[in-house]
Amino acid sequence: METLMDNPLKEGLGERRRPEPFTFVIFGAAGDLAHRKLFPALYNLMVDNWLGGDCRIIGVARRPYDTDTFREDVRKAIVKYSRRKPESAVLDRLIANTSYLTADFNDAGQYGALKAVLTDPGQDFPKNHLFYLATPPSAYPIIAANLGAVGLARPDTPEHWVRIIVEKPFGHDLDSAVALNADLHHVFDESQIYRIDHYLGKETVQNILVFRFANGIFEPLWTRQYVDHVQITVAESLGVAGRGSYYDQAGALRDMVQNHMLQLVSLIAMEPPVAFEADAVRDEKVKVLRSIRPFSTRDVAEYTVRAQYEHGSVDGEIVPGYLDEPDIASDSRTESYVALRLLIDNWRWAGVPFYLRTGKRLAKRATEIAIQFKTAPHRFFRQTETPELSPNLLTLKIQPDEGISLRFGAKVPGPEIRVRTVNMEFLYGTSFAGTPPEAYERLLLDAMIGDSTLFTRKDEVEAAWTLVSSILHGWQRARGPIPTYESGSWGPDEADRLLQHDGFRWRRP
Ligand code: BG6
Repeated sequence: METLMDNPLKEGLGERRRPEPFTFVIFGAAGDLAHRKLFPALYNLMVDNWLGGDCRIIGVARRPYDTDTFREDVRKAIVKYSRRKPESAVLDRLIANTSYLTADFNDAGQYGALKAVLTDPGQDFPKNHLFYLATPPSAYPIIAANLGAVGLARPDTPEHWVRIIVEKPFGHDLDSAVALNADLHHVFDESQIYRIDHYLGKETVQNILVFRFANGIFEPLWTRQYVDHVQITVAESLGVAGRGSYYDQAGALRDMVQNHMLQLVSLIAMEPPVAFEADAVRDEKVKVLRSIRPFSTRDVAEYTVRAQYEHGSVDGEIVPGYLDEPDIASDSRTESYVALRLLIDNWRWAGVPFYLRTGKRLAKRATEIAIQFKTAPHRFFRQTETPELSPNLLTLKIQPDEGISLRFGAKVPGPEIRVRTVNMEFLYGTSFAGTPPEAYERLLLDAMIGDSTLFTRKDEVEAAWTLVSSILHGWQRARGPIPTYESGSWGPDEADRLLQHDGFRWRRP
């Protein structure tokens, strides 16, 4: 069986340590995230030998379970969601190390019980503590404050550590993000806080760094002299998928652009970091976010598009429109699609437009970054039968067909000079056998080890919200209905016009 140890990306990112013994406390352990992602990730880390018997897990939730019922639940979740079919010996080991505590995390009085469990000499839980808040974000401040109040936010001794992992959304706008950071900082030091953006755990997203900085030939071209424009697409065929009440408050800009897409922009546009270390990498990423030109109200009207899906057909299935989905307000103006043109005002990227688009219920699921280079300066083949040479295009395919392709012109065999566009392809699946680890495996392991490179720092979150807030302000002023697009299409006509205005077209992934 292929293991994470065989993962070639590991070589690119340096040798890994195994985590020290620790206790993993999951708040919201009875919920969907814990079942679908966290327990299967813990199981797969154990299969790969990253976790031993010295990792103990405590699930905390309101549901009045006993430990045996909870264990059964965890077992079922792993069997259902693990990327590899569970082996019973490993599964039994993980389950034996899992226990449950019924507690209402809004009730300050119940944190004493958690502390009593964690410090009970009879149970001998490891003194390094990793808290995971798999709860609604509204609970983050109260959980943090209560952990602080009972003295669980700091380690007992300098040899031990305490860390906390929080999930997106980190706030709803700039003010709420700043307030959330302040609440967390009231109790925890920034070095203890791990903000998860699961895109950073994806192999192909990490490969952007390896591709750029482990190869000598691309970086010299990675500038405004050679790059014409960049297109980043995160297309989903799914709709709001039962998350209507959350999604209708969020919309595509908050749900995808503020976090995942701006992370992709940062990784593509950043300068080489001085070291592959958490702060060095994040320093460079935050510089990119700060260099993106904020949107004036006029820019919002000209360079952003938002839209909602109408009914249509996706993958051969008739699907309802956004307004007919459960838990969506009948007069909602929340966008399920957004397209933007960003400009990065720095030496490397001045004048190179970055076009971003993301949407639900689009023609297919595809995430990719396409870097279009400028055309050859001298039209050498003008007199031939090749009137229009296509510019070179480098496409980093993040999912689902992970790979990299480079488009270039080649001579068509024959006596005359005719040029045809061809592709040079690298496919992850054929070059590296085995299923890649899930994003949560990589990210949980990093948090266990104490490597925050792939987590979002406070200033990154706030810089991203500053930009996104400038768009939200512009949208708030606009009146009237927002455009729509048919489910199963590639989005609204307005998004096509955004690029046509600059003489470009969206790629078809
Ligand atoms: C989540 C969003 O963060 O990312 C979802 O809340 C979205 O709306 C999901 O569907 C996409 O993630 P992935 O890994 O499927 O591209």
